[in-house]
Amino acid sequence: MAEYVLAIDQGTTSSRAILFDHDGLVVSSGQLEHRQILPRPGWVEHDPLEIWRNVREVIGQALSKADVTRHDIAAVGITNQRETTVVWNRSTGEPVYNAIVWQDTRTQPIVDRLAKDGGIERFSLRVGLPLATYFAGTKLVWILENVEGARAAAEAGELLFGTIDTWVLWNLTGGPDGGVHATDVTNASRTLFMDLETCRWDDEILSTFDVPRSMLPEIRSSSEVYGVVEDSSLLRRVPVAGILGDQQAATFGQAAFDAGESKNTYGTGNFLIFNTGERIVHSTNGLLTTVGYRLGDAAPHYALEGSIAVTGSLVQWLRDNLGLIATAAEIETLAATVADNGGVYFVPAFSGLFAPHWRPDARGVIVGLTGFVNRGHLARAALEATAFQTAEVIEAVNADSGVALAELKVDGGMVANATLMQFQADVLGVPVVRPVVTETTALGAAYAAGLAVGFWSSLGELSANWHEDTRWLPRIDAAERSRQLRLWKKAVTRSYDWVD
Ligand code: G3P
Repeated sequence: MAEYVLAIDQGTTSSRAILFDHDGLVVSSGQLEHRQILPRPGWVEHDPLEIWRNVREVIGQALSKADVTRHDIAAVGITNQRETTVVWNRSTGEPVYNAIVWQDTRTQPIVDRLAKDGGIERFSLRVGLPLATYFAGTKLVWILENVEGARAAAEAGELLFGTIDTWVLWNLTGGPDGGVHATDVTNASRTLFMDLETCRWDDEILSTFDVPRSMLPEIRSSSEVYGVVEDSSLLRRVPVAGILGDQQAATFGQAAFDAGESKNTYGTGNFLIFNTGERIVHSTNGLLTTVGYRLGDAAPHYALEGSIAVTGSLVQWLRDNLGLIATAAEIETLAATVADNGGVYFVPAFSGLFAPHWRPDARGVIVGLTGFVNRGHLARAALEATAFQTAEVIEAVNADSGVALAELKVDGGMVANATLMQFQADVLGVPVVRPVVTETTALGAAYAAGLAVGFWSSLGELSANWHEDTRWLPRIDAAERSRQLRLWKKAVTRSYDWVD
């Protein structure tokens, strides 16, 4: 009997493979970072072939650390950085261009062009998303319009489009006749092309974007057998049985299966997902509507999402671009050298501002500088930026749902930072709760795959695996909380209207 499920988590900065046991506990893992290719301001690319090489290697790392073979693995699940777009040749497997990453803002002129007729909310009721550079659709259009020969090859049926889940699946399952060309509903709901009601590609939108339908993957559920691993790797013949975009995967891994449940993930960016059950809810407060998950033929579950582009990546930026700290973990030590932010507010609008503002014209600002301010205050302001941005997203969730969130379940790399978690509870005024297993993204993909092959039998069984680890309670009063949020919001307005 196979004892484990393997999750592949292909994220913005690294690829990981994590082996889980039946209790949902981590048995072993492998991880490799890949290059961030930044050719111009606002452009962010990855090399898809490097990503695929890394995925294969981290699978090997995870298996060898635990000393297991493919016979011990019941299924593989895939989770991924969402929206990042790859176009490749279906016969050679060669990408025609680097992957254009979700943070990349080069497609703003395409967004403006499409928004001329009907504004940025033109397709929102159908797809749940405003027109924005963030989503895969405009990135695909950019490739068709700017890569020599791409349009003709696409029209001749030679090119395939995929988000990273599709790229990994196609390569994993790629025998001599090519791999399975599919995506799941959650990833498809980030393209601007999928009708939320039917969970099918919308032909009218495809024709408005001038995208040949033959390039698009088949939309499947998040939990079913898509195919078996054919790649001559360590996983040969193991079924690939789960796919979820990483934020939806984290929600699933947090066992937030039902309407009203939510989670907030602290990664490169922050992403809050609020499950709305089988109901499609359209936000009036700057949130996205997205698919949460779909298990086989069952009805899809939908969600509201507050996406924040820059949180953890601000800490990396302070490390790599400014040299303020030597390691990401040092941010907490440096922030602890001061009692408060010294009046400094740091709005990291590096890709414009996402939820709830959706201001492509914004750029990063640091305000409140005086001669008193030192490195510690800057570190503290950078950490606080994550918590303030989250507080704004939660205000939007509360306004949309009409019910105030009672507590916040958290996960992701930055939740190891107790200073940040305490400050988060302070500015929210509700408890912040961290589970024992914080690898919820990979766990969610493992759960989806394990459910499809009968490794786990029900959602109830998965919920029983969720255990609380730490709970931070708010320590400041309402007056201080509203003073801080007021100053933050004032700082945000200073970031607006900066693009020429
Ligand atoms: O929408 C982008 C998101 O999926 C990226 O997540 O964890 O790679 O920063 P992450």
